[in-house]
Amino acid sequence: MSTPIPGRHQGKTVVITGGARGIGLAYAQRFAAEGANLVLGDVLDAEGRESVRALEKAGVKAIYARCDVTKKAEVEALMDAAMASYGRLDVCIANAGVVSHGAFLDVTEADWDRVMAINVKGVFLTGQSAAKRMIATRKKIADWGGGAIVNIASVNAVLVQHNSVPYPVSKGAVHLLTRVMAIHLADYDIRVVAIGPGPTKTAMEAKVMADPAKRRIREIRTALRRMAEPEEVAAVASFLASDDASYLTGQTLFVDGGRLVLNYMMPDERAS
Ligand SMILES: NC(=O)c1ccc[n+]([C@@H]2O[C@H](COP(=O)([O-])OP(=O)(O)OC[C@H]3O[C@@H](n4cnc5c(N)ncnc54)[C@H](O)[C@@H]3O)[C@@H](O)[C@H]2O)c1
Repeated sequence: MSTPIPGRHQGKTVVITGGARGIGLAYAQRFAAEGANLVLGDVLDAEGRESVRALEKAGVKAIYARCDVTKKAEVEALMDAAMASYGRLDVCIANAGVVSHGAFLDVTEADWDRVMAINVKGVFLTGQSAAKRMIATRKKIADWGGGAIVNIASVNAVLVQHNSVPYPVSKGAVHLLTRVMAIHLADYDIRVVAIGPGPTKTAMEAKVMADPAKRRIREIRTALRRMAEPEEVAAVASFLASDDASYLTGQTLFVDGGRLVLNYMMPDERAS
């Protein structure tokens, strides 16, 4: 497992939506260990505040602000909190997302709208609002190193499955929105990239983790034969937001343990 690189994001401000728990919290811990100051937004207030308390205990500068990413005013307030607290915005991770299950013929209008609002409109509002504060940062800091927006897609941006309809459509939209944002923000020294995680051990996959049969389906459809730890996804986000990725924009990097390259299934027995 990768270890944090001390000072890699020293003094940068990093905003993370959906940062109260799961992979969002893993991004927070990774960037904090590399010197960043944090702003976490979420709708789970108790968990968000608890996560910030734990980070503060470890000596990290972090604040929590309630932010429903479907509401422009709340997204703007989140970014304002970052500027008010730290005077700059360098990295934004548009991570908030929800999954939904159901057959195509059963999908309700309400569920379609809910998933699209959080997973697509939320990423748009987050990126637009963050980019404006990054441009303000660029004007203010003469030797600013540039900004990075990391959108969270999924392997479902390009793969579909039974029993899931708006989710893959929404993640496909995040993949394309990343390309759109990358060309519009390039002239402002802002790179825009996306991560497409494969199945990762969080609350979103709780039912899979609790059911050996469901888990096995994930595992044999993945070359590395296991689900990701949230920290493994966070390590890639740190790289993408760092100077090591300075010539990378408009790409979706699939952090999937070899899920997308596997056509059929892994053999039952591992090679010795
Ligand atoms: N876990 C996986 O297997 C997996 C795989 C691919 C992609 N992803 C993506 O990674 C991201 C994080 O997922 P996770 O696995 O950590 O799940 P999670 O459910 O633990 O975290 C999602 C977070 O988003 C927050 N959120 C939901 N609606 C929101 C809203 N309207 N405004 C603000 N915050 C909101 C939730 O409260 C939660 O804290 C999501 O975008 C998800 O689609 C996860």
